[in-house]
Amino acid sequence: MKKLIIINGPNLNLLGTREPDVYGNLSLVEFLNAVKAKYPHVEIDHFQSNIEGELISKIQEVGFSYDGIILNAAAYTHTSVGIGDAVKAITTPVIEVHISNTFAREDFRHQSFIAPNAKGIIIGFGLQSYELAIQSFL
Ligand code: DQA
Repeated sequence: MKKLIIINGPNLNLLGTREPDVYGNLSLVEFLNAVKAKYPHVEIDHFQSNIEGELISKIQEVGFSYDGIILNAAAYTHTSVGIGDAVKAITTPVIEVHISNTFAREDFRHQSFIAPNAKGIIIGFGLQSYELAIQSFL
């Protein structure tokens, strides 16, 4: 059984209530339950944190044993050298995902410290971005 993990960064715990016009109406729990039900033959773990160091520690923890990491580092995507370095340090492939099309938004969202070390990037398909990333690992 393939072992994947979705790692979500700051404020993504507020999915469903946070700017629904940008991020949709589904809560994180609802979304994860739906995805897990749809891919019963895949182990899909999840971790969310609002704290940069916790995200780095989780990437290190899973980054040598899992088959894939689906990473939405949220705002840290655009600021965190540390998360970018962690992605570079591990052997598990990482897909960077974003719910919104970050290139259609403010200039500061066009920068990513993860992208240079990611296997691929899926941006702007709403919550489906995560699912496309899962499919890419199957
Ligand atoms: C986001 C885009 C980021 O710019 C933003 O800070 C987020 C969410 C997305 O999934 O669209 O928190 O990563």
